[in-house]
Amino acid sequence: MRTLGIGVERNEVKVLILDTAEAAIDRSAGILLDAVRQKPTAVLGLATGATMLPLYDKLIARHLAEGISFAQVTTFNLDEYIGLAPDHVCAYHHYMRKALFDRIDIDMRCTHLPRGDAPDPVAEAEAYEQRIAAAGGIDLQLLGIGRNGHIGFNEPTSSLASRTRIKTLTDDTRRANAPYFDSLDDTPRFAITIGLGTILASKACLMVATGAAKAQAVAMMVEGSISSACPATALQMHPQVTVVLDRAAATDLTLVNYYEHVHPKGAGSEYG
Ligand code: F6R
Repeated sequence: MRTLGIGVERNEVKVLILDTAEAAIDRSAGILLDAVRQKPTAVLGLATGATMLPLYDKLIARHLAEGISFAQVTTFNLDEYIGLAPDHVCAYHHYMRKALFDRIDIDMRCTHLPRGDAPDPVAEAEAYEQRIAAAGGIDLQLLGIGRNGHIGFNEPTSSLASRTRIKTLTDDTRRANAPYFDSLDDTPRFAITIGLGTILASKACLMVATGAAKAQAVAMMVEGSISSACPATALQMHPQVTVVLDRAAATDLTLVNYYEHVHPKGAGSEYG
């Protein structure tokens, strides 16, 4: 059986459906660890949000249990809120240190996030895009999905060719993220995000979605028409995307039987 790791051309969106969120998270952690096992110097694209917290916990537990080192790994996060310094408790810099970086053997000098407090956010966004290119591009991009189909902070109407830039957040996204802040008013209105074009340039993508709230966005992403109205549909143009779902997030998919036939219980198939 071939692995699901990086460097295996597949030319399809691979949909893996697991019975529970826990199983989906474990499967996703396994794919990430396989990528590091195959290429210890991998460049990983990382995401934040509620979905990723149990995934990072699982990754840490398995990294310790299986002895897989992150010492040579480089990371680039998808996004950061504009206006927040790295040590702000709601900054994604802070999230990443707490959720992952402080708990694995990664070299902090090899971890990257855009600076939300950069004096010139436009220049910061351009420099971030160049830093990704200088690192040789992203080997495996981890993604969550917003209820409105955003990936990173590429909100609806993002150009499918977009690169790292400043994006105005939608009301829906701000409301979804407001619980982390003191109030909706305190929730940032802008973010620096890597673009859909930047994501499409990565060698492989791993999207993880759990829970019924994501079912509609997932169905659009996998089976809908490609449109900037649902930015995640851009992934249909990527040759190597794996979507890992729990059953609740798979509810609105039309072709569930097919996905489960090809990948019973989320397993790899004979041809990847
Ligand atoms: C954040 C990011 C976002 C989230 C998405 C889902 O870095 O990339 O696209 O993945 O908003 O967030 P949760 O997991 O909180 O539902």
